[in-house]
Amino acid sequence: MNNRRLFLEYLAQTSPFPLQIEIEKAQGCILYGAEGKEYIDLISGISVSNVGHCHPKVVKAVQDQAAKYMHLMVYGEIIQGPQVKLAEKISALLPPSLNNIYFVNSGSEAIEGALKLSKRYTRRSEIISFNNAYHGSTTGALSIIGSEKYKNAFRPLTPMTTSIRFNNTDDFKYITNKTAAVFIEPIQGEAGIILPEKNYLKKLREKCTETGTLLVFDEVQSGFGRTGKMFAFEHYDVVPDILICAKGMGGGMPIGAFISSKEIMSTLMESPILGHITTFGGHPVSCAASLACIEVIEEERLLKDISDKEALFRKLLVHPKIKSIRGKGLFLAVEFASRDINFAVNHQCLENGVFVDWFLFNDKSLRIAPPLTITAAEIEAACEKILMAIEK
Ligand SMILES: Cc1ncc(COP(=O)(O)O)c(C=O)c1O
Repeated sequence: MNNRRLFLEYLAQTSPFPLQIEIEKAQGCILYGAEGKEYIDLISGISVSNVGHCHPKVVKAVQDQAAKYMHLMVYGEIIQGPQVKLAEKISALLPPSLNNIYFVNSGSEAIEGALKLSKRYTRRSEIISFNNAYHGSTTGALSIIGSEKYKNAFRPLTPMTTSIRFNNTDDFKYITNKTAAVFIEPIQGEAGIILPEKNYLKKLREKCTETGTLLVFDEVQSGFGRTGKMFAFEHYDVVPDILICAKGMGGGMPIGAFISSKEIMSTLMESPILGHITTFGGHPVSCAASLACIEVIEEERLLKDISDKEALFRKLLVHPKIKSIRGKGLFLAVEFASRDINFAVNHQCLENGVFVDWFLFNDKSLRIAPPLTITAAEIEAACEKILMAIEK
């Protein structure tokens, strides 16, 4: 059987229409298909490959660490160099109150940890999140996503969760002194890249402080440079109580984290002890990759050019069929008049050798989230292919 047949026969499928493109190699912004076709990657595996595919520094960090030791013991017991160095590095990037890190393996897991932490710390049960928010597929995370369509088949889910409207301060009335936490993507991703209105996050911060509610920022997509700052919340002068990271954090390796203050985090240590544990969380190879990834962002000064790259996309992607371009940095959505147009353009883009996608909760918009290392020439080539796809 060839790999396509094996894929369809033995791999659990998530939809009836998987892309079925076989990739043999990926380097920088280019995916090399098995049949000799090349694709410019405009989505980074959904905001993962921020430093490009197989960055040599990340590859070396992985190889070096894998040769020293891999898994030793469940998280939290043994001192592992890559883990502690990464924790120190991330703390230094963040405001002083975000100085304590719990490493996990994925975004969903980080959300699960934060749900437990916020309940444990506040001793409250209610959780508020937002319409069209995406936080993951595990049952806790699923309970707080903002889509009935995705939740309904799996009920009952976690009780006492409420979805409110993004960018609507009237709905802050639902945040009370019974609310443990508000989970929000400071820039909504799967909703189709929705930016917060001016001062919206500040007002939300005030409401949370007033009611003793923890404010949790999910930066699984927007973190690690995607918007031109290391974390999107830095654009808005608001500090959360808990920060969630994953995806771009690992330079292509699986890792996630929930980050808070030592005071809040220390409640997970007792009553019960071992109240949140993980076997592979903070895997040393993933931590080494993550540290290398942050060093690449810094050493190659990748954040410096992000707004120029955004401007180039905006300048080149002009066509009567494009209704608008939303977003910040290399976290963009190109909106068409309908789902049908978007799907046709997506299909044609793949034919033309540019890898794009739509959003879970916004199928009229095309996703643009390339590696931050993308060059001007690659942006020009990709935009030409997108415009050709639209014409076709
Ligand atoms: C904002 C956000 N939070 C959480 C998650 C879940 O992350 P993971 O797929 O690593 O579990 C995602 C995944 O797309 C996401 O976009």
